[in-house]
Amino acid sequence: VSGPGVDGPPETHLKISDLHASLSDPLLDMMNFLNEIAERHPDAVSFASGRPLVDSLEIESVLSNIRGYLEHLAQRGASQEDLCDVLFQYGPTAGHIREVIADWLRVEEGIAVAPESIVVTVGCQEAMVIALRTLFATDRDVLLVADPCYIGIAGAARLLDIPVTAVAEGDRGLSAADVEAAVEAERARGRTPRALYLVPDFANPSGRTVPAEQRAALLDVAERCGFLILEDSPYRLVSSSPRLPPLKAMDHGRRVVYLGSFAKTAFPGARIGFAVADQQVRYATGRTGLLAAEFTKVKSMITVNTPTLSQAAIAGLLLECDLKLAEANADKAQRYDQTLGIVIDELDREAEAGSLAGLDVSWNRPEGGFFLTVNVPFTADDAALHRAARDFGVLWTPMSYFRHGVGGERSIRLSTSHVTPDRAREGVVRLARFIAAEADRVPRADPPPET
Ligand SMILES: Cc1ncc(COP(=O)(O)O)c(C=O)c1O
Repeated sequence: VSGPGVDGPPETHLKISDLHASLSDPLLDMMNFLNEIAERHPDAVSFASGRPLVDSLEIESVLSNIRGYLEHLAQRGASQEDLCDVLFQYGPTAGHIREVIADWLRVEEGIAVAPESIVVTVGCQEAMVIALRTLFATDRDVLLVADPCYIGIAGAARLLDIPVTAVAEGDRGLSAADVEAAVEAERARGRTPRALYLVPDFANPSGRTVPAEQRAALLDVAERCGFLILEDSPYRLVSSSPRLPPLKAMDHGRRVVYLGSFAKTAFPGARIGFAVADQQVRYATGRTGLLAAEFTKVKSMITVNTPTLSQAAIAGLLLECDLKLAEANADKAQRYDQTLGIVIDELDREAEAGSLAGLDVSWNRPEGGFFLTVNVPFTADDAALHRAARDFGVLWTPMSYFRHGVGGERSIRLSTSHVTPDRAREGVVRLARFIAAEADRVPRADPPPET
């Protein structure tokens, strides 16, 4: 449809209803909304941002890591010309640092896979899109996710028109029995659960961790019911609390596609992630090949290859720390754990003798990661978030953003990764006052949000 421009040719107006339906889904607006509200209230304490810590010392180390990686290649016989190609040319679609990532996975995570089963991606986000595009063939193929679930996977599925079925997470993460029941229910509807997306450690958004015995049980259900597990665990190496093995390290039947990210262990601006897809694919000719090769075909039509400089920076970091990223992140892990602990302690204090005393408010107690869940006695929606920001100077994320369909209206996600200890203490005081004020609030029409 066209209309007249101010001066000159008519402007083109596209109807939103003619664009892909995902663009009218509030899911795709959530990040914008949170960013806008944060920009409008720059002095608010933000428990909304899940950004990792970065510091200026890292500028020098990134440069020296790139140099270190080039030296590593030179020691293995690469010429100046080869190095020039590595940095400046189009690179192999599956990435040029697969060997280093495979070594690191073996040493640090107990995941033994061949470099050929790895595809280096533009963040974990691209790995999700590639995995979904590859594995979901018909409109009866369903993705199972934990409820609540990370927006990135829900959004990717929405873009690709992949139906999603949510399985409610219990206090101890997703249970194998609940997943099996969901698989059966889907099959009864004539649909095929192809994969289960899972964040087993310090999940975003809930902060929950799947216990060891549930990990084994989930692998067992995947085996019996014939679906894959998409394991995504970006927070496991940035906490000093004890770690459980990744499902991929326990994956004898090759049921797990591992989706990796260096956003929290290195820095998110690098946009480096990867997928491990060591499953075999059988072709019509009877020949077999790795699923990673199919992922690579998909990637070749999305981003061609992952930026070479970023790959060099991450490989250099892995080599520099002798493939021990958790050790390299020990200081940051301690800071993350400390701030998370402060927020939990301050909430306890507010409940004992502060603004939360006597209120029906509860929270979980993750031992690491960036997030925790707080259950509140009122509807924690966008309007409530506006009031929190405007009247109390504190930001959080409505849990309903992460729910599939309904639910989560009386629950919020707090992210503790990007506040200093002092701001965290101040933030909890503000949050507690806000919660008390909301709990007290006589239902009335809300004023329109500020513009
Ligand atoms: C569970 C989860 N997966 C993946 C990502 C993003 O990874 P990347 O920045 O590598 O795309 C995040 C970031 O917040 C996350 O919370």
